[in-house]
Amino acid sequence: MSEDKSLSKRLLGAGHVPTLRKKLARSIYYVPTIVAEAVRDAKHYLTHSGTLNVSPIGQLSARITQTYHNIEKGLSLPAPRPRFGAVHLANLIDYMRTYRELYEDGPELRSARDVLAAYAAFHDSIGVDDYPYKRSIGELVAEIPSSESQMGGLRKVYKRDILAATQGTDENFFLHRHSIRKFTEEDVDLGLIETAIKVAQKAPAVCNRQSGFVHVITDKKLIEAALKLQGGARGFAEGVNKVAVVTTDTRSFSHITERNQGWIDGGLFAMSFLYGLHMNGLGTCCLNWSKTNAQSDAMRKLIGANPWESIIMLVAIGHLQDEFEVPFSIRKDPASISRVIADWSESA
Ligand SMILES: Cc1cc2nc3c(=O)[nH]c(=O)nc-3n(C[C@H](O)[C@H](O)[C@H](O)COP(=O)(O)O)c2cc1C
Repeated sequence: MSEDKSLSKRLLGAGHVPTLRKKLARSIYYVPTIVAEAVRDAKHYLTHSGTLNVSPIGQLSARITQTYHNIEKGLSLPAPRPRFGAVHLANLIDYMRTYRELYEDGPELRSARDVLAAYAAFHDSIGVDDYPYKRSIGELVAEIPSSESQMGGLRKVYKRDILAATQGTDENFFLHRHSIRKFTEEDVDLGLIETAIKVAQKAPAVCNRQSGFVHVITDKKLIEAALKLQGGARGFAEGVNKVAVVTTDTRSFSHITERNQGWIDGGLFAMSFLYGLHMNGLGTCCLNWSKTNAQSDAMRKLIGANPWESIIMLVAIGHLQDEFEVPFSIRKDPASISRVIADWSESA
């Protein structure tokens, strides 16, 4: 094979340790691109998150969920403090009133109502009559209709139920998940993907804001186009039966410190989705979305995603063959990627 002697290769080098000249050339070449992408990342966050504008439905629903969840959490503590959460209550009441004015009714409002009712019930149970915003809480609880089933507050769970549900699962479930790049021709039933989405929804999410979304592509031509744009399924794209595009909703986040939260919640959501598919006996392969903003725009356009969605990854899905090979994909020694901090002192 002849060596690539192009100017860019000679200046920028490949993956090997660069010389000072190459480092300089790489900086001139890459720094402006990285800065330009970072500016576009920031623009996307500022345009779609709740940082600058809380009142659109997506942003306001997330704020309500985030705020009522702080009260819900407080109620679930070992010893909830009487009259806790005054600042959150003030914000929540304000958001709920805005929501009612603009959108009348919705699931987040119903959940918030139930949380306020639980807050009031807690204070009744401990004989405290002068908790913050008692009047407003009473008004909102009375005015907002409650749903047939509980939408917020506390739920009781039992250790015996958790143990019964987890007893049959051991590390083998996890050790037998592989990234699979060859499938049978059998069609994947959408019902199996639906249950995997339910599993994904149980992934923890920051203040339960649930930003994850799954676009399930069944159209063969769109599968082909999406995989072509993704580029990492070369050599096995033809055998992929369904493709899922996992995204997160940037409207769920608001604070500047949450600018990367979508990637974290999206990653957890995607991993749970993979385990849901694995639980259903399906084979999967994650397909990276390590792309530029222009490529993300192209994918959003291709699949009809909303502009506020950030693309986490694609997932190739198919049925397992009876016997097949996967890359060995050795894992590092667990001791090399973990440490135990058993004795800490500030001066250490
Ligand atoms: C976010 C992410 C993106 C990935 N992208 C690709 C990809 O584009 N193409 C591919 O063939 N495998 C892809 N993989 C699969 C990895 O190569 C694989 O997870 C890794 O080698 C470990 O192997 P295992 O999943 O079989 O345990 C991706 C994995 C992750 C988590």
